Amino acid sequence: ITACAGPARENVVDTLLDDLRNLEYRGYDSSGIATPGEDTVSVVKREGEIEELAKTLDVVKPSGSVGIGHTRWSTHGAPSDANAHPHTDCDDRVAVVHNGIIENYTALREELTERGHTFTSDTDTEVVPHLVSEHLADGRSVETAFRAALDRLDGRFAVAMVVAGSDAIYAARNGSPLVVGVDDGRRFVASDVPSFLEHTADVIFLEDGDVVRITADDHEVTAIDGSSVDRSVTAVDWQPEDAERHGFDHYMLKEIHEQPAALERAIRGRVTPDGDVDLEAFPPGCFSDVDDVQIVACGTSYHAALYARQLLAERGVPTQVFSAGEYATTPAPVSEHTLVIAVTQSGETADTLASIRLASERGARTLAVTNVVGSTAARVCDDAVFIRAGPEIGVAATKTFSSQVAVLTLLRERLAEDITGQRGADRERVLRALERLPGDVQQVLDQSSVESLAARYRDRDGHFFIGRGVAFPVALEGALKFKEITYEHAEGFAAGELKHGPLALVTPDTPVFAVFAGQYDDKTLNNVEEVVSRGAPVVGVGSEESTDVAATVDEFLPIPDTHPVAAGVLANVQLQLVSYHVADLLGRSIDKPRNLAKSVTVE
Ligand code: G6P
Repeated sequence: ITACAGPARENVVDTLLDDLRNLEYRGYDSSGIATPGEDTVSVVKREGEIEELAKTLDVVKPSGSVGIGHTRWSTHGAPSDANAHPHTDCDDRVAVVHNGIIENYTALREELTERGHTFTSDTDTEVVPHLVSEHLADGRSVETAFRAALDRLDGRFAVAMVVAGSDAIYAARNGSPLVVGVDDGRRFVASDVPSFLEHTADVIFLEDGDVVRITADDHEVTAIDGSSVDRSVTAVDWQPEDAERHGFDHYMLKEIHEQPAALERAIRGRVTPDGDVDLEAFPPGCFSDVDDVQIVACGTSYHAALYARQLLAERGVPTQVFSAGEYATTPAPVSEHTLVIAVTQSGETADTLASIRLASERGARTLAVTNVVGSTAARVCDDAVFIRAGPEIGVAATKTFSSQVAVLTLLRERLAEDITGQRGADRERVLRALERLPGDVQQVLDQSSVESLAARYRDRDGHFFIGRGVAFPVALEGALKFKEITYEHAEGFAAGELKHGPLALVTPDTPVFAVFAGQYDDKTLNNVEEVVSRGAPVVGVGSEESTDVAATVDEFLPIPDTHPVAAGVLANVQLQLVSYHVADLLGRSIDKPRNLAKSVTVE
């Protein structure tokens, strides 16, 4: 969702299009905009990427000083012109864009159909403009009609609306993210800050149940019943240029190269000169009453969570990790001494939010590890730690994984000391390795040359990734990245598990990427021998000093020699580059892979 109210006589269509392009990472199967005229709203929408919409706008040339826009990741109804947002009522007086799911839309649609409304799409969204238009026909004001329609909706959603003859935009948040941007003489509403960041960094983070009315010069946030609520304006510290490509062919490549700077920020001020951890709001002893830790996450964040489990287990902290989609339906038992950590880059993933809400209701203490200040996870959890990676636009997460691992490593030191009463014997080495990590990542980036390797492995039956200890989640992440952006088959396995089944798939046409983080490398080498003897080519990623690894594998991708905590991150950077270059050779849509979206706000 994006929306802009500009000064009278200004045409906001180009702004809407730019602000939509800035959001394209959230969904990209169809898009559209609506601007209100005196009697009807004019809607232009197209299936496909935003450039399809841009071409049509060039021909149709709509204009208006206010407007709403949407780029879609379909839930109800296939991608098509008809299912693209905005949706309108029968008279084209009301146009609505929407994220999330309206759970009672079937009943509402039947009811409206009986009263003579006709529908032109398969979406759940379309009931909203029809409901509003009925209330308008009853003589209600636009604002009361909007509230009355919202009152009928079940589910989690965010909506924005324009109405013919009005220069105001109405929007509401109930479970899906929505923020307001406040500029001089211009106001914005969007699903995420990068949409309007080039205009303003002054933001109001709406909360569930909030309704907002914006015009060019004013904004008013109220509760659904009309009572006023106080929402302050926060200045976010992201710079507009953080969300630009800066000459890189893809955001993903730019973000891979931003990892040294992102890691600097993640660590800065959090390691004291005398070698202690200083995590702002978490002084020593603040986790003393925690008995056990559960971590919930999805996708790449889930792999960072698995990494953290290895680290916590090494320090004797009982830790379980759950895929948030599972935890939300089958939660593990918790007590008031359980700390449930949500690892989520966006802070808006619906599965993760459902899990932490559930854990909270059941009495657990909750903590968000997130990239987005003001995100729902940061607000729903009792506490939050920010990874400070800056905006990540590429759908495939890269720098946020590294920053999550760095911050979770620091958090592990605090948690483990509070829970077990002991400092890890290697804490100083761990912290030194973290401080060196930005420079070590830079060395990998400067020296890596995986293009020719990528050319050899671009077209194979399958690609397997194996690792042990912290190298296991790296193997899973390596495989996820590979499948996400190359569309080639890839799977990650615990190195020891390969022989218990997956080995049946190994042939000379299935390269195996073996990750070595300096932990249990001898055992992983045994597993490498098992695949070598089945004829599979092996690419090893490990310390530049591991001569035995280099001697055993067919191709070797070196990383600086360091503590295993940091080695996993470095190995992952090599694998990110492999996936990137294979996808590039195959001509894939690297920043916006088919069927995926960066922030999935439905369960
Ligand atoms: C989506 C993205 C993944 C991401 C996952 C979790 O599925 O495509 O790249 O890892 O969501 O996102 P989060 O914002 O919770 O870390």
